[in-house]
Amino acid sequence: MGRLLLLVLLLPLPCIPGLPFYNGFYYSNSAHGWDPGLGGVQCLFNGVKLVVETPEDTLLSHRGANVTLPCRYHYEPALASHRPVRIKWWKLSEHGAPEQDVLVAVGPRHRSFGDYRGRVHLRPAGERDVSLEIRDLRLEDSGRYRCEVIDGLEDQSGVVELELRGVVFPYQPPQGRYQLNFQEAQQACEAQEAAVASFEQLFRAWEEGLHWCNAGWLQDASVQYPITLARGPCGGLGLAPGVRSYGPRHRRLHRYDVFCFAAALRGRVYYLEHPEKLTLSEAKAACREDGAQIAKVGQLFAAWKFRGLDRCDAGWLADGSARYPVAHPRPTCGPLEPGVRSFGFPDPQSRKYGVYCYRPP
Ligand SMILES: *[C@@H]1O[C@H](CO)[C@@H](O)[C@H](O)[C@H]1NC(C)=O
Repeated sequence: MGRLLLLVLLLPLPCIPGLPFYNGFYYSNSAHGWDPGLGGVQCLFNGVKLVVETPEDTLLSHRGANVTLPCRYHYEPALASHRPVRIKWWKLSEHGAPEQDVLVAVGPRHRSFGDYRGRVHLRPAGERDVSLEIRDLRLEDSGRYRCEVIDGLEDQSGVVELELRGVVFPYQPPQGRYQLNFQEAQQACEAQEAAVASFEQLFRAWEEGLHWCNAGWLQDASVQYPITLARGPCGGLGLAPGVRSYGPRHRRLHRYDVFCFAAALRGRVYYLEHPEKLTLSEAKAACREDGAQIAKVGQLFAAWKFRGLDRCDAGWLADGSARYPVAHPRPTCGPLEPGVRSFGFPDPQSRKYGVYCYRPP
């Protein structure tokens, strides 16, 4: 028997092959000490396993909210002592968008990155709870996040999926069909208080019945269109319904429509009660006189989807289009599915429409 060697665990934890592990200490009976150069990861705990738990269900939240992405870890079998770990949260790359670091923490120190700086921290909820709080959610925050716990060389992780409530709508500019390259598509959505939709968002909208016969840009610069009823000019006869893809397109040279994603609203959209119909510039002025602004397309879609806005009167919107929202279809009010109907971009001088206004909270 050689001397008994007591090794206190330090961060980063060395990998010690073949040593028994008791109560947070390694004991060695080797006269020559230990050789950290040998062995694989599984040698670290000699049977003590690090387990990371995250929820399976997608978290649903909305723009401007604070959300907690749950993540806990434990050891099997249980360990009584506290062991220092390193925590890393990052957002997974999705459809061409790069992976993003979110937060790294060691003990009480932590550092956040990029757009997340100042908006994220670990929930101060006790040991082995490393849930991530994100404040003031942005549209771009939706996606999958990985929570990684690193204990020396042992390293386990789990994934949390976050989805923001919103509505997808196809958008064409006043110039007509297939006019937007990728950058112009992004600007078009932003101008309507929305962002270019992701594939997941378009797919969900298709599951809920979105049918659109023109191809539009998505966030990953691919071009797709959702078909619920395959028809001749629209996906081809005899083909199954689905989201059809043209694949990735050239961001500058190719021109399509775009699918925008508008988040649930905080303010209120309403049809302005007004004695006469208005020209476009009168419509803008009328909303201002009412202490509001003429509504953007994304705001009208969000009010229709999340507030059940239902009105059979077509009204001007900020982009110069005229539309009306129908939540409860009826024979006197257009087609028999719910939706936002469009009259395209009428002559701005015509006096055939009312106006939808938006008042911030
Ligand atoms: C989010 O958290 C911050 C800081 O704790 C708080 O000031 C803010 O009111 C919260 N926002 C919402 C929407 O709850």
